[in-house]
Amino acid sequence: MKKIAIMTTGGDCSGLNTVINRVVLGASIRGWRVYGIVDGTDGLCCKPINVIEMNTETVPIENARLAGSFLHNGHACMLNFEKAAQTGRIKEFNKTLRDALIKLKLDALILVGGNGSFSLAWLNREIYRDLSLVCIPKTIDFDIPLTDRTIGFDTAVEQLTSYCDQILLTARSHHRWFVVQTMGRDCGRLALYAGIAVGADAILVPEIKFDVDELVQHIKSVNRDYGIIMVSEGITLRGHSGRPADMIARKLTAAGITNRTAFPDYVQRAGDTVAGDRLLAAKMATCALDAIENNETYVMTALRGNDCVTVPLAEFYAAGDVRADPNIPAVKTANAYIEPDDPLLRVASDLGVYVGVSG
Ligand code: F6P
Repeated sequence: MKKIAIMTTGGDCSGLNTVINRVVLGASIRGWRVYGIVDGTDGLCCKPINVIEMNTETVPIENARLAGSFLHNGHACMLNFEKAAQTGRIKEFNKTLRDALIKLKLDALILVGGNGSFSLAWLNREIYRDLSLVCIPKTIDFDIPLTDRTIGFDTAVEQLTSYCDQILLTARSHHRWFVVQTMGRDCGRLALYAGIAVGADAILVPEIKFDVDELVQHIKSVNRDYGIIMVSEGITLRGHSGRPADMIARKLTAAGITNRTAFPDYVQRAGDTVAGDRLLAAKMATCALDAIENNETYVMTALRGNDCVTVPLAEFYAAGDVRADPNIPAVKTANAYIEPDDPLLRVASDLGVYVGVSG
């Protein structure tokens, strides 16, 4: 009988409880014991280790669709990674994790996380030797290389779409444009997908240069006096500071375009998990459990078309655009971004959406 554990790390998103539910169910069917590490790696640093034994009733099916994480995603306790990085105590932090894992005597650990957690796990892989480490990608940012989707992204797109559907009615009543700022860090995929779904007239993303005069001309050329301008939080405007949506809104106002800003914020990480994310969570849970059965380690589950496969963490790290995380300069993270040949860019321009400077 195997003894495995699951933890969720980084920013939460919808779909985490579904994946926990599916892992526990699949492990129980295999006759394995499953533990949940509470608060991600912070829980491993706590004394005593913050861990609970889980069964199929711990996250029942009717709660599996709920946003957030039953296991929580992190809590400032005695020592956590950010604190360790800031105070030069990474070695001590890594040793604490290693000691905790030895104490738990696990056969496998499923880490449900984002590119920061995976990069960290790979760079400090010694911590996880002697057990099978399987990572499941989740993030609303969809900035993890080598997978066709991350858990939580589809729900975030849905949340943004329904948010914009609501404000479009207000926009129409008041003859106003709304500049909606999406999350996504330095990856514009969330803004691009939701922008197309909503029918935005302009989508500004960090990966593509844009020109404010062109944007203004485009909005003035639209045969309507209201609509949505989707702005990813990662865009910058030379010589300007503040929130990206505010910067764009000021430019539009100066050009005589009546507008307001809107910030859906954490609503993007909330909401009942959409069916697409539930299916993805189920596929990834099965793939992760199969990987453990096959004694794979240092792998990540990845969606490829309709299938879920495992890819080595080494490939994940090598495939990403490796950059320093501004919040944790001690760590370099493998990121994925919108590529210039992304078919959705072609779809957007074919719909007459302004997506930045072409060519
Ligand atoms: O990575 C997910 C994300 O929601 C980003 O889109 C956003 O920039 C960030 O997390 C917000 O982080 P925090 O919850 O720490 O404010």
